[in-house]
Amino acid sequence: MPQHELFQPGVLGGMPLRNRTLVAPMTRISADASGEVGPLMQTYYEAFGKGGFAAIVTEGVYTDQYFSQGYEFQPGITTEAQAASWSNLIKGVHSTGAKVILQLMHAGALSQYNRHCDDTRGPSAVQPKGSKMPFYRGTGAFSHTLEMSSAEISAAIAGFVQSAQRAQDAGADGVEIHGANGYLLDQFLTDYTNRRSDRYGGTLRDRIRLTCEVIERVRNAVDRNFTVGVRISQGKVNDFTHKWAGGVSDAQIIFKAMEASGANYIHTTEFAADAPAFEQGKSLAAMAKSFTSLPVIANGGLGDREIADRMIATGDCDFVAIGKAALAAPDWPTRARNGQGCREFDFEMFSPLANLETANAFALKNA
Ligand SMILES: Cc1cc2nc3c(=O)[nH]c(=O)nc-3n(C[C@H](O)[C@H](O)[C@H](O)COP(=O)(O)O)c2cc1C
Repeated sequence: MPQHELFQPGVLGGMPLRNRTLVAPMTRISADASGEVGPLMQTYYEAFGKGGFAAIVTEGVYTDQYFSQGYEFQPGITTEAQAASWSNLIKGVHSTGAKVILQLMHAGALSQYNRHCDDTRGPSAVQPKGSKMPFYRGTGAFSHTLEMSSAEISAAIAGFVQSAQRAQDAGADGVEIHGANGYLLDQFLTDYTNRRSDRYGGTLRDRIRLTCEVIERVRNAVDRNFTVGVRISQGKVNDFTHKWAGGVSDAQIIFKAMEASGANYIHTTEFAADAPAFEQGKSLAAMAKSFTSLPVIANGGLGDREIADRMIATGDCDFVAIGKAALAAPDWPTRARNGQGCREFDFEMFSPLANLETANAFALKNA
């Protein structure tokens, strides 16, 4: 019975999980102006735990007071006060039986707002494609970015390391290094945004180096049982259809490098998690499974319970992360288990902003 698989307990790094369902990371720009989280966010995250999810990957949390912040009202974990606010939230989620994985995110050239600094940094001085996201309070084109110096790269790595330590001290069960979706680490990985000629630019092995160094440095700085995962994608928030130029061979190099760096899991995200990653063949999640011995979380369109069940049953992934469907039904796992239907996600929930106030007003209106 495939459904049986979705509700089997599992282990992710050092973390025992009550079933195979996680909440996907989703930025909700609902912290206070200084990047601390409060009761509104705590209630939001606790609802997923009460609804049966085994773990929550939090929204992307910024990691330093230089160039990492991406959005106004994005939470950070760069100060003791920010960490203490997370500690309260994490206690609340733990009381529901769910685990918390903090996603550590450096926005790089895609930063739309940064209270610490006016300009942006990326691997190279390349104008990002696309435009800022209005539902995160952005308007117009992305800023012109400047090439990061070696000292700025070292500071960014240190930011990930210190943030992971703060997350551990705040009671989180793990961290996820955000290597996906077009943000800093993905900018280094991507051929057209990385034109560097130092050790962080050039071949694919050079372009994945920064992600791997971050994984390794974080892994070495936290306790053995504290889980350190990594998220990876082909598409980006500002380039949805991007594909890795070398296809399967690139995937093999990337996944093996991540495993060698000490990652405890790989979290792949695609528009449709079960679709072939390239023209034909395996999905990205299934490739991560076949090229490594790590647990794999698959994400993208898995609010369809049958597809989620099937991916686990066939061994194409070990866990599923649910995004928009979890917003429509924070009790998605309980409903799926009982064979109940779920309300469809409605984009009006993000209009005009993808924050919690807008979502709560939407919920009241549609109660
Ligand atoms: C409002 C919103 C915010 C998001 N923020 C993040 C984020 O902070 N970090 C991240 O890795 N992905 C983020 N994503 C992507 C989701 O984690 C997920 O990959 C995407 O929604 C596809 O999964 P789904 O089909 O289950 O919704 C966000 C998605 C949405 C809709």
